[in-house]
Amino acid sequence: MKPRVLILYYSFSNQTQRVATVMQEAFQQRDWDADVCQIEFIDPRYRIEFPFRPVGRKLLRWLWPQLRGKTGDVRVSGDVLARDYDLICLGSPTWWLNPAMPVVSFLRSPAAGQLLHGKRFAVFAVCRKAWWNNLRQVKKLACRQGGTFVAGTAFCFAGGEIQSMLSFISYMQYDTDRDRCCGVRIRPFGVGDAGLAHAREFVGELADTIAPFTPPPHQDATH
Ligand SMILES: Cc1cc2nc3c(=O)[nH]c(=O)nc-3n(C[C@H](O)[C@H](O)[C@H](O)COP(=O)(O)O)c2cc1C
Repeated sequence: MKPRVLILYYSFSNQTQRVATVMQEAFQQRDWDADVCQIEFIDPRYRIEFPFRPVGRKLLRWLWPQLRGKTGDVRVSGDVLARDYDLICLGSPTWWLNPAMPVVSFLRSPAAGQLLHGKRFAVFAVCRKAWWNNLRQVKKLACRQGGTFVAGTAFCFAGGEIQSMLSFISYMQYDTDRDRCCGVRIRPFGVGDAGLAHAREFVGELADTIAPFTPPPHQDATH
């Protein structure tokens, strides 16, 4: 029997999805049975069409509820909830220094307990720059649902804080890469080739670490 992995993620502007797809291919090349599933954010209160202008006002619709710890309605395919995985990889974009609201919404739901209880999990954060708290929060929530943390990593955009912010703003407005934003030369939006190579390496580390048919050790959910 092949070891089984689920890569479960949310993605608004496709970068987490790109990483998830590369990870799926890398697992399959190692002869793993690899499922990919996107968390659907179906809550009409937080719907935003993409691309959009002006960027600030629309994105701020997510800021206040997220900072107050609000969650929204999400959906995950019943098929993956019913399957038994040796490893679950959780992919989360950063929103306002935290995991994206759809990821938090899922991880706080009973469905997350059904999926994660007694299972090993890994976390990958995708963002412009601020990955640390995102990864930490996802780890904490998944441990609370009975999962055992194996490893975590982050995929960040190229360039500095300002450059990546301008790339982000430009992409949100036009849904395509442009040379300049506000008169300043900018880098391409998103996770670059080096990031995707890192995704393949991360899969290698996970696959080498996991002995799929031994039960995960007990882990305390409080830290
Ligand atoms: C509402 C919102 C808030 C964001 N806040 C941050 C942030 O605080 N720090 C950061 O580094 N990136 C932030 N980003 C950038 C995203 O992390 C980045 O665009 C990433 O590609 C999102 O993943 P996705 O493409 O899979 O949706 C934010 C993006 C959105 C849409």
